[in-house]
Amino acid sequence: MIATSSPTRFLSTGLRRVLGSRVAAAMAAPHSVDRYLELFDPTWSVNEVRAEVTAVRHQTADSVTLTLRPNANWQGFRAGQFVRLTVDIDGVRRTRCYSPANSVHAGNEHIELTTKAHPTGFVSKFLRDEARPGMIVTLSQADGSFALPQQRPERVLLISGGSGITPVMAMLRTLCDEGYTGRITFLHYSNAAKDLIYAAELAEIAARYLNVELLRAFSEGAQCGELQGLFHREQLATAVPDYAEATTFLCGPPGMMKAVQKVWTEDGIGERLHLENFTAATPVIDSTNAEGDVRFARSERLAANNGATLLDQAEAAGLRPEAGCRMGICHTCTCRKLSGQVRDTRTGQLSDSGDEDIQICVSVPVGTVTLDL
Ligand code: FES
Repeated sequence: MIATSSPTRFLSTGLRRVLGSRVAAAMAAPHSVDRYLELFDPTWSVNEVRAEVTAVRHQTADSVTLTLRPNANWQGFRAGQFVRLTVDIDGVRRTRCYSPANSVHAGNEHIELTTKAHPTGFVSKFLRDEARPGMIVTLSQADGSFALPQQRPERVLLISGGSGITPVMAMLRTLCDEGYTGRITFLHYSNAAKDLIYAAELAEIAARYLNVELLRAFSEGAQCGELQGLFHREQLATAVPDYAEATTFLCGPPGMMKAVQKVWTEDGIGERLHLENFTAATPVIDSTNAEGDVRFARSERLAANNGATLLDQAEAAGLRPEAGCRMGICHTCTCRKLSGQVRDTRTGQLSDSGDEDIQICVSVPVGTVTLDL
């Protein structure tokens, strides 16, 4: 943790311990201590990581890059990990997962998050259109096992597509900052050159670091990338002939991830491939054969099962369960199923019919299901 005298990080002193005590909580009741601290500075919190947006830039038409200054509760991250960002939109708290793209050596006073606004992405569109310096967001601590290992690999291959560039950008920047001398190949897929986030910096890194090879693949028309079209085995074998010897980190859209995984599995080198599934595969929703009811025990509500995910069905029933990524990564939506069977939309696997914790954003009911919601 970096000590600083900045007022927004002031609570890193012993005062935080005092404010976090039971006595302080009892005095603040029925509100939390944070509710009072916010009156002085919205980034002050006893336990929560809150961050102020200090800069906003638009690298491409559909993306936004935010520089955030977190409070002293932020414990840093490993290159590749993600955070859950919560933002208040029209009075409703919305949470999504984003990977910091900055180098871990940039210090704990800044976090850089880049998001691409997808047509159906409520939070990403809000951030692209509305984020301004001074805006306050809440963050989780960094999470996830997709990260550069402490013992750096001898040869690194980073493969990304679209907005999946952010965690591998953090890896690339981190390795460059620490003077890594092994070979790095940065293989990135996007539709067109105009969609490539970090285009200028990537070109600059490739020109400056002789051990970094940049391979840009564009799928639309004749573009100025080193490669053309979507990922396929022959292209990989020609462009990166020693891919089997590299430790590979992969993040991108589901189709690309699947194609890459297939090659690594067929070659028997799956253990050398590390991946982050950051884009939700569209769940297969079978509304025609949906049977039974969804019962929300705590709120005493009942809805006819329409085949959608339990998160969607809970929201349609007027409930507001906690949710983050909506794609099975962050576990924010984990909820107790009291009875009934569900199918995991990612794997097709059926659950037991008893009482257990499930992620409702990636679970569809198979017959009647009762949730503790
Ligand atoms: S909302 Fe993230 S796992 Fe369900």
